[in-house]
Amino acid sequence: MADIALIMAAGQGTRMKSRTPKVLHQILDTPLVHYVISAAEKAGCARTLVVTGHQRELVEAVLPDGVEKVFQPERIGTANTVLVAEEALAGAEGKLVVLSGDVPLLQPETIAALLDACTGHAMVVLTAHADDPRGYGRVLRNEYGAISGIVEEKDATEEQRRITEVNTGVYCFELEGLFDRLRRIDNDNTQQEYYLTDIVGVCVDEGASVGSITVADASETMGVNSRVQLAEASRVMQRRINEAWMTAGVTMAAPELCWIAPDVTLAPDTTLLPMTVLAGATKIEGDCVIGPDTRIVSSCIGAGSVVDSSIVRFCEVGERCSIGPRAYLRPGCVLENDVKIGTSVELKATRVGAGAKIPHLSYIGDAQVGPDVNIGAGSITCNYDGQKKHETRIGAGAFIGSDTMLVAPVEIGAGAVTGAGSTITKDIPDGALAVERNEQTIIEEWTKRHRKETH
Ligand code: UD1
Ligand code: CA
Repeated sequence: MADIALIMAAGQGTRMKSRTPKVLHQILDTPLVHYVISAAEKAGCARTLVVTGHQRELVEAVLPDGVEKVFQPERIGTANTVLVAEEALAGAEGKLVVLSGDVPLLQPETIAALLDACTGHAMVVLTAHADDPRGYGRVLRNEYGAISGIVEEKDATEEQRRITEVNTGVYCFELEGLFDRLRRIDNDNTQQEYYLTDIVGVCVDEGASVGSITVADASETMGVNSRVQLAEASRVMQRRINEAWMTAGVTMAAPELCWIAPDVTLAPDTTLLPMTVLAGATKIEGDCVIGPDTRIVSSCIGAGSVVDSSIVRFCEVGERCSIGPRAYLRPGCVLENDVKIGTSVELKATRVGAGAKIPHLSYIGDAQVGPDVNIGAGSITCNYDGQKKHETRIGAGAFIGSDTMLVAPVEIGAGAVTGAGSTITKDIPDGALAVERNEQTIIEEWTKRHRKETH
């Protein structure tokens, strides 16, 4: 029987003080709810259901394919959040893990342990020992140490509030009988909510067995309810991810100044310098030096490449390339091997052939640059006529003189040369030189006369 995960994500997250629903706030460029979905998947859950409510369209829009959506029309409590999934789970058997969309640090191993522990029980609660239990439900135990109930802080007595064993809000249920038990829960409490935590009492009354396991590292179960907690959770996640990559052979000069999103992959012997941000599904091969001051989003960087103080978004970079300082590679660029993109160069939707160089101050957009081309400083593709974008093609080994304006559409032949300062509007045949320049005028002794006139 395949295990199923249900993620509660219908709440608004009032304490975030945000127009954005809480589970869409991000840690390392990735929405909170994604961490929970990924942990459930890694723990081996075959189905994942996300219960949405507040601003459901926004939350549903970011859910990955394959995740099932359930709608909770009214936020009347966590027992109802699970109950609304009854129809979606009709006919399902086995175990249901219930997780919260605002608990992003939970590890797959912990979920797997909870699933294991559920065997032979109607349900299992994941508890934690908290130094500061404030805000959490407290775990009540009988004289034999067995769990007998959970009391929310707002409903707890003074004595119960002193209990430091807390409910993490993570549970595993045997599906059989679950929905009948949920229906037995009422909202007779200070918040007039249907508490999922009350299911413990329902089980105990029925004589159904309730188990518990305690998480070893309480930071895993930290709930994100405010922006301060969001920053704290980000720090924990950043450290966790960076330590895993350092263990895998990546050097970080200052790991606290490197931000690596969860879907990034890095190969050994790559070095990340301070202020490096790697986002999306970025993949960096070995022996690269990335940073300082660099942001790479959803791009691949080949082995042995250097990216210094630059931005690269949605691009493919080959091996032994050199990028920056201060280059901006916009979406759709493909650099073959041994390409140099130098200082303050902007590239967009351009393919650059092996060994080509664009070393200084250029804008090259919608272009095909052949292998071993050299583009002189300040050269620009004039790719936009105000209405449409046009393509520039530069053949292998061509030499573009400094400050050439390539007015697209235009094609430069293989091995062709343009004179510095030329505005090229017509195609250039292979091996030809094109110069477009007014003849230089010399006015003798101009300075002397000019000075006289102006004094
Ligand atoms: C809950 C637990 C508390 C536990 C704590 C751990 C209950 C009654 N209490 O409290 O014992 O210590 O988590 O973090 O469950 N949600 C819905 N629909 C609703 C209400 C909530 O989807 O109608 C979602 C929220 O979006 C959130 C999760 O359920 O993701 C938990 O709700 P929240 O209001 O944050 O509960 P806590 O007060 O934190
Ligand atoms: Ca919470």
